[in-house]
Amino acid sequence: MTDTIPQLTGYDEPALDAAFATLSQEATQQAASLATEEARENFRLHWLGRKQGRLKLVSDAWLKSAPIEARKPLGMRFNLLKQQIEQVLEAPAVSLTSAHVQGIDISLPGTNRQPGIAHPLLNTMHEVVRVFHHLGYSTNLGPQVESDFYNFEALNFPPNHPARDTQDTLQIAGQQSRPSRDRLLMRTHTSPVQIRTMIAQEPPIRIVIPGKVHRNDAADATHSPIFHQIEGLCVDTNITFSDLKGTLDHAMKALFGSAVKTRFFPSFFPFTEPSADVQISCIFCGGAGCRKCKHSGWIELLGCGMVDPAVFAAVTAERRKINPDDDAYNPEKITGFAFGMGVERIAMMLHGVSDIGQFYSGDMRFLEQFA
Ligand code: PHE
Repeated sequence: MTDTIPQLTGYDEPALDAAFATLSQEATQQAASLATEEARENFRLHWLGRKQGRLKLVSDAWLKSAPIEARKPLGMRFNLLKQQIEQVLEAPAVSLTSAHVQGIDISLPGTNRQPGIAHPLLNTMHEVVRVFHHLGYSTNLGPQVESDFYNFEALNFPPNHPARDTQDTLQIAGQQSRPSRDRLLMRTHTSPVQIRTMIAQEPPIRIVIPGKVHRNDAADATHSPIFHQIEGLCVDTNITFSDLKGTLDHAMKALFGSAVKTRFFPSFFPFTEPSADVQISCIFCGGAGCRKCKHSGWIELLGCGMVDPAVFAAVTAERRKINPDDDAYNPEKITGFAFGMGVERIAMMLHGVSDIGQFYSGDMRFLEQFA
């Protein structure tokens, strides 16, 4: 920084303008590089210092010896220069340049927060449930820890019946002293919520029940000891097997496309009579036969049937504990159908997933594909 004051060539306005312009430019230049507090303080002393400051020198050299008529134009320009210096010093201390010096690199990319998405299994449950909501069904949920009564007995699986073997599960420990119907286990299907709903509500009933279920199954590419089901229950006057067929045929077309066909095979479930397994025409080959449908043209997707009168009898026995005259589930007056399907199986078909384990792995590369 120079300490000398420019020579004043005269007191006329152009001479004054030129002299002050030199000083103003000098200040502007210096102000552009005031990155630290120290530089700002040096700048202040350089211009405003009481003894050696530039303004003091200007005042001594130009103002004091000026003729009276030149004092006013000189003073005005002097004040403008002083204001300029003061404004520089009043500006906020952290400018972009000083932020950089303090170690904040504003050219770095910002934090990228990715919004979460629903898990593909949840999405599949929502899709299925939505199809039935459009048919006037509502949604019910139930506990994952169930009693033997709701999971088996009321669904017409008598104690020691071989049908229980297909649905082995985790039993809660230390309950040998309880009556068998009260013993707790992890539910093996969503069907116990049929019983809970009918005990609590009179017909007409149209519900879907999505949820988690447990079985003693070894994990492989298509099995998992914990998986998900969606149950359906419809109870009303004059419900027939053709209502069941029409409802499921519609639902499969809504889920997999209107070209899909359905067919019903005799099957067995203790809580439905008659019972059926439902197959859909292979969505991969259109029924011609391929590896996915084991060259049969058909894929088995769900179980269903007409509600067994023994189930209505178990429900009625429970309801009569509260109202001895209850007759809401008299099988002479009402009938119903039920169905159940595996969510993983549907999700695997819809998305071409070949290993069920991927749904539970938490591998972001897999999950991100559904974003
Ligand atoms: N609960 C049966 C199962 O898990 C499926 C099913 C539900 C069958 C409703 C018929 C009616 O295997």
